[in-house]
Order: sequence, then structure tokens, then C-alpha cells
Amino acid sequence: MIHSQKEAFFEKMDQEFIGLTYADVQVEPARGEFDAREVDLTSRFSRNIELKSPIVSAAMDKVTTSDMAIAMAKLGGIGVIHASLSAEDQRNEVRRVKKHLNGLISDPVCVHQDDSIEQVLNMRDDRGYGFSSFPVIDNAGKLVGLIAQNDFDFVEDNSDSISTAMKPAEEIVSAINVTSIQDAYAIMRKNKVQKLPIVNSDNEVIGFYVWKDVERIITQNSGLYNVDAYGSLLVAAAVRTDPSEAVERVDAMQKYVDVIVLDSARGDSKHIFKTLGAIKSSFPEIDVVVGNVSAADSAKDLAAAGADGIKVGQGPGSICSTRQETGIGIPQVTAVYRCARAVENHNIPVCADGGIVDKGDVTKAISAGAESVMMGSLLAGTKEAPGKIIEDGKGNRVKIYRGMGSLKAFQDNDASRERYGAVSDHMPLPEGVESVVPYKGSVLDVASMILKGLRKGMEYSGCVSIQELREKSTLIRNTPAGIIEAKPHDVRVITLSEQI
Ligand code: IMP
Repeated sequence: MIHSQKEAFFEKMDQEFIGLTYADVQVEPARGEFDAREVDLTSRFSRNIELKSPIVSAAMDKVTTSDMAIAMAKLGGIGVIHASLSAEDQRNEVRRVKKHLNGLISDPVCVHQDDSIEQVLNMRDDRGYGFSSFPVIDNAGKLVGLIAQNDFDFVEDNSDSISTAMKPAEEIVSAINVTSIQDAYAIMRKNKVQKLPIVNSDNEVIGFYVWKDVERIITQNSGLYNVDAYGSLLVAAAVRTDPSEAVERVDAMQKYVDVIVLDSARGDSKHIFKTLGAIKSSFPEIDVVVGNVSAADSAKDLAAAGADGIKVGQGPGSICSTRQETGIGIPQVTAVYRCARAVENHNIPVCADGGIVDKGDVTKAISAGAESVMMGSLLAGTKEAPGKIIEDGKGNRVKIYRGMGSLKAFQDNDASRERYGAVSDHMPLPEGVESVVPYKGSVLDVASMILKGLRKGMEYSGCVSIQELREKSTLIRNTPAGIIEAKPHDVRVITLSEQI
């Protein structure tokens, strides 16, 4: 239950028809007997999908493909692979995240004994695999050997066939029909092997175990990584609003994806309800987060229609011009509070999407009722975000970050047009802009700092868990002078690059 102070606070605002956003509020400090390192960031993205930290990367073409999603899951959050890819490319991106670390790899990438070493290395690089161990098969699909990084290291001629470099079947350990990770652990430990191909009674490869993953899972030492029951990283994927397209995509990805995000600028349109129904009836076991909305009634209706999570935000995004172009919108803190309140009885979480500018906004979003926070601009410009590093002409390294409703995104793909309500080839009203953001290095560093900000905010507000931050914390409204006071002021801040 969200704290009664917040109820009174927002009721008062409602009486005066005032909507608030992040800069308008602060979470009030309160006593707590713990420090930032002790807080628990466990949360939820959807009804059944847990997070070890409440951060989500946006389903945008300059923010989330597999590299970003891998990094987010390693930080305890989740990444949403954007939908402006062909169905096949999107599936491959999702698959790449799922296969990044694995317990049982149920359909391992195998190579043929007659492939050249060069072919295999090229295939590995083209598909962006972060691993170099492959079971080797013959024409009949039977296991004939294993090739690993160590074997590639000692190759003299890359045009040689894999069969010349691999360890043949008689020198490796494999197991028949072993699917339990406990059995795999025991076999690998006993034989001191790093890799264990699993075959069926016809010697066809049906699985693969890698020691460092098996050990991590058995010793329960996945640390901050956000993993599924098999020890693989969690991953989300966005789908478009057309029901049959959405169902086809989910079908193609269902083997690898953990949660679907049904994504539209108007998450309460009749198409969305239809598509939600279509996905849930075909795949009742997969959680579907639906958005974006900002009105309480829309959130409630989506919950009643079977949504497993609600994504809130219409117009707060850094690259968004929806409010300017159309005049609609509810400032984000008010929108998050109203929607979180509206779905409280359905026991599904709200994700606050867009408008996070300062790290402290994450603390504020959760205090307002969100269980996770989706970010675009803060994560864009990192190494893991898709796109090249470019020079802006003033000697700065930058990357492009653009709204999915920008003219450029519309020109590049029809998924963006569909998100903004396009029918067939018609060009919708642009509701976003194209921008550049500074190159920021690895998102692991950037997002770790965001999480440090959240931990510290929780320490200051005396809330030891995300649930407490939602339920116990209290908000206070900033005055215009308070907004100025809330940032460094009345000094000239020295940037790191300045020599003084
Ligand atoms: P940011 O974190 O403030 O940059 O906001 C990112 C969010 O903005 C995304 O997750 C989307 O919900 C939203 N968004 C993405 N593209 C557009 C657009 O072109 N117009 C409006 N909102 C957008």
C-alpha cells in the first residue's frame, strides 16, 4: 500500500489540478539504521519477472540491442530489444542475450567438421558470439569432436578444416541424455572438463554445458546477474501493435524471450487491447508489459485486460515532442503515482518510462510508486548502445540518440511509424527529435553510478527495500527557489576536462 502521506499529497495536488514531474519533488529524508550498501534493490518488471535492480533500458533503436541487454541483465536489470528490426534480426538479438551465459545450452551452435577454421571464426564474429567452443558434427549431425578457444590459438593455417584442429570424440567427455545441471556438474567435476556436449542415443548433439556457468549456478553465485532458472540472462523484447505481426514475433522469440513489451505511444488504443488479447491467448505463460499510458483509468483497464505490467509515460522523454505537438500529457511523477495506485489491487508493477534526467529521479520515480525505471538518454551514448561514435566537429566524441517518433526513425523503419499510429504507408506526425549525446564509455560504469545514486537515496530516506521506498517514503514539493537549490548553484562548476 502506498503511504498515506503520498495519498494526501497527491490528493491536494489533484484538488488544485497540479501535475508534478521529477524536478518538482524531493523524497524526504528519514532515519534508518543501515547504509547504502545494505539496501535491497530487488524488484519486479512484470507480474512474474523479477529484477535484482530496478533498471530497464528503453526499446529504442539507439539504445537496446543485445550488447545493452546483456549489460543491463548483468547489472540486475533487464533490456528491451527494440522492435525496429526484422523479426529474424530481433530474434537473433534476443537469442544472443539468452545464450551469453548458460546453464544447459539447449540448442548449441555446432560447426561441421569440414568447415574451414576461417569460416567458423568469421561466423562467430558476424553473429557477435562471445564464446569460441563448439561441438563438431558430421554430415549425419553426429558428434565427432569439440573445438575450443585453446584449439583455435594453436592453428597455423586458417584454411585448414575444423577436423584438423578439433579434439576428436574419443579424446573428449560427452554424456548421453543428461539434462540436469547437477548431473552435468558431477560429470564435469569428476573428469575435470570445462565443456560437456550432451548427445541422444543416436549421438546427435542435444545440449552443451560450460563449466563456469554450471559452477556459478550450482554454487548459487550468480551475484547481481539477473538470470532465469537455467542461469541464463533475462531479456525482454518489444513488439508492434498489429495483432498478427505481434503474435508471429512472439512465436519466433518465445524460446528465448522472458517478457514481451507491447509498445505504443498510445497504450490504451483499441488496437493495443486487441493485440494484448491475441498475445495472451496464444502465449498465456509469457508476461506482457503494456504501454505507454499515463491516465489511471487506462492503466486499470489494461490490468483488467490481462497486462502483466504497465509502462507509464506519455511525453516525458528527453527526445519527445508529443506534448509540444499535441498538447496532451500528465507530468511524469503524477502519472506514475496515479497509474501505480490504479493497478495496486491487480498486483502488477508499473515501470516509469522516460524523463529520467538526474540519477536522483530514479529514487523519486520509485517513491511515486514505480517498481522499475526505463531509461533512454542516460544509457544512450554508451559503448553498448547501437551506433557509431562520431565527432561533432568541435572535437567531442558523440553518438546519435533519437526518438522512435522522429522523422529520421520514421524514414528508416515502419515499426516506428506504427508506434505512432501509422496506417499502411501514411507518414504520422513526428513526436520526437534526433539528437547527439556525449560518448560515455561502458554502460556498466554509467548504470553502476545510477544504482549508487538509488542506494544512497534509499539510505537517506530510511528505506531499506524498493517496497519500502514505494510504501514508506514521503514526498515534498519543490518551489521554484527549491528547484534552483536542488542543483549546484551560484558557482561556476569546473568540468573534469578543465585545467585549473
Ligand atoms: P528518456 O529516458 O527521457 O530519453 O526517454 C526514453 C523514452 O522516451 C522511451 O522509453 C520511450 O517511451 C519514449 N520515446 C522514445 N521515442 C520517442 C519519441 O520519438 N517521442 C516520444 N517519446 C519517445
